[in-house]
Amino acid sequence: MEKNEDIIKSLKMYNQEHIIKLLEKLDEQKKTDLLEQLNDIDFHQIMELYENTKKTIEIKENKIEKIAYLDKAKLTKNEKEHFMELGEQVIVSGKYAVVTMAGGQGTRLGHLGPKGTFKLDVYGKGKYLFEILAENLKESNKKYNTIIPWYIMTSKENHKETKEFLEKNNFFGYDKNSVKLFRQGELPLIDIHGKMLIGKNLKVKEASDGNGGVFSSLRTTGMLADMKQKGIKWIFIGSVDNAILKMVDITLLGMAIDRNVQVASKSVIKANPEERVGVFCKMNGHPKVIEYTELPEKMAEEVTNNGELKFGESHIMCNLFTIDAIEKISKEPLIYHSAFKKNPYIDENGKEVIPTEANSYKFEAFIFDSFELFDDIAILRGKREDDFAPVKNKDGVDSPKTAKELYEKYWERQKIKI
Ligand code: UD1
Repeated sequence: MEKNEDIIKSLKMYNQEHIIKLLEKLDEQKKTDLLEQLNDIDFHQIMELYENTKKTIEIKENKIEKIAYLDKAKLTKNEKEHFMELGEQVIVSGKYAVVTMAGGQGTRLGHLGPKGTFKLDVYGKGKYLFEILAENLKESNKKYNTIIPWYIMTSKENHKETKEFLEKNNFFGYDKNSVKLFRQGELPLIDIHGKMLIGKNLKVKEASDGNGGVFSSLRTTGMLADMKQKGIKWIFIGSVDNAILKMVDITLLGMAIDRNVQVASKSVIKANPEERVGVFCKMNGHPKVIEYTELPEKMAEEVTNNGELKFGESHIMCNLFTIDAIEKISKEPLIYHSAFKKNPYIDENGKEVIPTEANSYKFEAFIFDSFELFDDIAILRGKREDDFAPVKNKDGVDSPKTAKELYEKYWERQKIKI
């Protein structure tokens, strides 16, 4: 009872009286459910997030520099061999794990369900995105005579479906005991007055907290402890939607070890100023990625003396971290980016409102905001045709059609090499 009174107090203090009014109208069960959910919400954080929506993210150009990188294609034979040797040692000694961020849905693709359950129409029969990842990892296991622990991040929205899908498909032949699913966190949606939206189920409407949620959820779900117990030293974190993602690149890993950094990332050259990718830079002396939604047009178009885009190293969601780096990041709050979107809700009289215009904010942390916590990270420039076949849009660029082509051509080239 006392707990409930505290919640009511917080609701008053944090400008959420509409929820008090709604609570008064609910039956006992619904009331208990909502109060239980409210008990887990950090009202102070919600207020801070709301205050932040009023500030614009300022990108001061004079504090931004181009970032240094190594080009994989231009490494000397000795460098390459040295990196590969260092990287291979980590893999064969069982100190490497892979995390796939699969909390997203296939909405932009027009696919109902978790993105990893989307079937890419390759080689006639097609392959699911999860299947492609499992096959790639299995191949590395064979090559290095090991079994790489595979952690898959789901969201509240898609956890059940993902689990059932993977089980039904027998994890595409991956060693079941080496696969662990864990759930990312959620944050409430709030309107332009800072009020939390209520959904049709008469609970606060929440949405996934972005792929930057991976660090804290690795920790809170016990995955980090599991990795430590297994003696893991390096962790690859990648997306679910790149059909040729290299999750086990011993050159990238060896380079990170050689450079004595805690974080490394693969880049490719940005195709054009409009491409929807984040770009690497250094801001105030720290490594950073500026997301495509936040990069000013002028900067996106800037070119260097040799005609390359100044901010042309694209972030392709191919990131490596030491276990210590993950531990450190998981304890630091990352900033949240807000997206203003249309979201239906229930008003204080219990009536559904379907907005015709954007009415509320969704908050997401981005994985790459963690880079700023380090003095330096190592970047290896790969090749688009070897490293990046994104499946993002239903048609046009970065669609299943472009990804299928890149995927089939990539594997065709591998066959020729053999
Ligand atoms: C992302 C990157 C962008 C990069 C591009 C390359 C971010 C914020 N943006 O853009 O810099 O150039 O990929 O393809 O990282 N996900 C979750 N939980 C979430 C949100 C996303 O697991 O709450 C996962 C998705 O399942 C997917 C990955 O994160 O595997 C990226 O998805 P998305 O957020 O759609 O990023 P993009 O806009 O494509």
